[in-house]
Amino acid sequence: MTMTPPAPVGLLAELTHRCPLGCPYCSNPLALEGREGELATGEWKRVFSEAAALGVLQVHLSGGEPLSRRDLTEIVRHCASLGLYTNLITSGIGMNASLVKALAEAGLDHVQLSIQDADAASADKIAGYAGAFAKKQEVAALVTAEGFPLTVNAVIHRANAARAGAMLDLAVALGARRVEIAHVQYYGWAVANRGQLMPDRAAAAAAVAEVEQKKRELAGIIVVDHVIPDYHARLPKACMGGWGRRTLNITPTGKGLPCHAAETLKHLTFWNVRDASLSDIWYQSPGFNAYRGTAWMNETCRSCERRDIDHGGCRCQALALAGDAAATDPVCHKSPDHARLADILAAETQTEPAPYHYRRVAARGSA
Ligand code: SF4
Ligand code: FES
Repeated sequence: MTMTPPAPVGLLAELTHRCPLGCPYCSNPLALEGREGELATGEWKRVFSEAAALGVLQVHLSGGEPLSRRDLTEIVRHCASLGLYTNLITSGIGMNASLVKALAEAGLDHVQLSIQDADAASADKIAGYAGAFAKKQEVAALVTAEGFPLTVNAVIHRANAARAGAMLDLAVALGARRVEIAHVQYYGWAVANRGQLMPDRAAAAAAVAEVEQKKRELAGIIVVDHVIPDYHARLPKACMGGWGRRTLNITPTGKGLPCHAAETLKHLTFWNVRDASLSDIWYQSPGFNAYRGTAWMNETCRSCERRDIDHGGCRCQALALAGDAAATDPVCHKSPDHARLADILAAETQTEPAPYHYRRVAARGSA
């Protein structure tokens, strides 16, 4: 069935892949872009102007570490002048009191700060950056004192699963109004670190139970968004709210993508904002149209009552685990590949984890 998609609601701008941290679960691609290929300030401004004209309401300024861009304040001011709601997604490294003030003055609406663990030594080890934990405390204080609403992002994996509840307490202590706590999603660098990151079934289940318990205890104090681990689920998530249905990502070099991992779908071509308008990328490009609607689905999904709820799950996960981007997401219990998840889980969690492959721009071409 062909359909005209609604206008996108959100745009995630990966302003840069540069980042001082080396988190081993980063969703950026293994082949990271260097500074030289990044869109210039004027190009980003044009993208945001086109986004506002297209109907986008919210922009998420992300990376890499968006504070690595010296023009961040100018970009925020431009977005605010267009009436876009601006959300900064940051590790906090590179933030200081004057920059917080400048971003407020430019019209920034919201800050999302990542944490790696509730234990300082473990957090710094996961981030691959000495002093990261302490710096985040300082940044949270600056941001909340300036009056920004703060969301804390936390990723659960083998090294911190035992402190899942403590990470929620930390988010409260940091003054966050909301916390997004998600089990690692296996894209990008997380695939290269799957054996190091994947908790065993008991540890994952305990972390899920602890977060749910804390969520009840903290009701009215902080909003907890909890994403449960894919590999332990029976039904897939509606990845990105459906392919090309709600949001788009722009990479540091200007490629328009339906999700952060879309470039792993090598059979698709994704247009670049340097050559095409955002409107054409959204409505006309073959990459965005590839998995809209239901015509591309196999019979299992097309005849399923959940097809308009989860849209068949995640295309990138279907390709990675079933070898076919149009397959039913193997997280779904109806997928013929569902049993493979248990095999992967068993294989990845029975050995002592090796050291992390830290995410570094220098890794370009070596992965
Ligand atoms: Fe979703 Fe397809 Fe599974 Fe139905 S069969 S629950 S549409 S992934
Ligand atoms: Fe690409 Fe889910 S990450 S569709």
